Amino acid sequence: MKRVRKAVIPVAGLGTRFLPATKAMPKEMLTVVDRPVVQYAVDEAREAGIDHIVFVTGRNKHVIEDYFDVQPELIATLSRAGKTGELATLDLIQPPAGMMSFTRQQAPLGLGHAVWCARDIVGDEPFAVLLPDMVSFGERGCLAGAVELYDQTGGNVIAVEQCDPLETARYGIVGRGNAAGHGFAITGMVEKPNPAAAPSNYYINGRYVLQPEIFGILGRQERGAGNEIQLTDAMQQLLEDQDFFASPFEGRMFDCGSREGFIQANLAFALARDDIRDLVFEPISEMISLQKRRCAA
Ligand code: UTP
Repeated sequence: MKRVRKAVIPVAGLGTRFLPATKAMPKEMLTVVDRPVVQYAVDEAREAGIDHIVFVTGRNKHVIEDYFDVQPELIATLSRAGKTGELATLDLIQPPAGMMSFTRQQAPLGLGHAVWCARDIVGDEPFAVLLPDMVSFGERGCLAGAVELYDQTGGNVIAVEQCDPLETARYGIVGRGNAAGHGFAITGMVEKPNPAAAPSNYYINGRYVLQPEIFGILGRQERGAGNEIQLTDAMQQLLEDQDFFASPFEGRMFDCGSREGFIQANLAFALARDDIRDLVFEPISEMISLQKRRCAA
């Protein structure tokens, strides 16, 4: 069985849910505490053993490529000023040379189309997909669990979390089959089902391990929901020929493409950081108490 070595991170979407912030800045560069959301996805991929990352970018997204490049002027200035802490931070996030490829999706035709744009760079091997606006928060990253399950089961793996059973219409939902490793076999996938029609409350949370046969299906895929080429439609088709397994995530995924998810992620990551927690805990607690008093009045 081939190891999962490559990951695709699509960053070509327009981020319309986060306008006006995303009018001139990619939503993947919005910061959670002090680093852009795309940095969390790269760290998660590296933790899961990924050796190479393929970014699918679009117009106005070149800042993402610049972010992962070396900045000699900045390094020289920090060195002259003796700012060793800042230099160490830059060093920590710097990917090794050649670890990243960038390809362009010429028009935002949907997530499925974005993944298809990476086909030649990925080639004939299993690969991971991380939606970078979904930021993973937990003991270990979500993708590490999905890759671990893939190593046990082969096939394709989708990371899932449980949602409120009354809110299934907001998500892609999978059907639950027999237990497999720390997860279970997937019997089907439904996009945004009403609670009565939902096969379970396990929703697809933005991390995948897929076999390369998905590319052929994506290449033939008609537009689906939202007039976009949908990854879920292609996975549904691949499910007819190949096994899919669900890897339940033990942590929590924040949807940083939405205002509320982004704010929650900032609070969760700030409160989890030893160097920030004490600086923000009291002010946040006071704001919450004040708000509660206002609501009660
Ligand atoms: P989203 O659907 O969350 O991104 O896609 P979006 O379309 O930018 O968001 P809204 O709904 O307009 O606010 C998840 C990921 O897939 C990428 C996005 O950049 C995001 O990281 N994506 C989406 C593409 O790369 N291409 C697309 O055509 C669509």
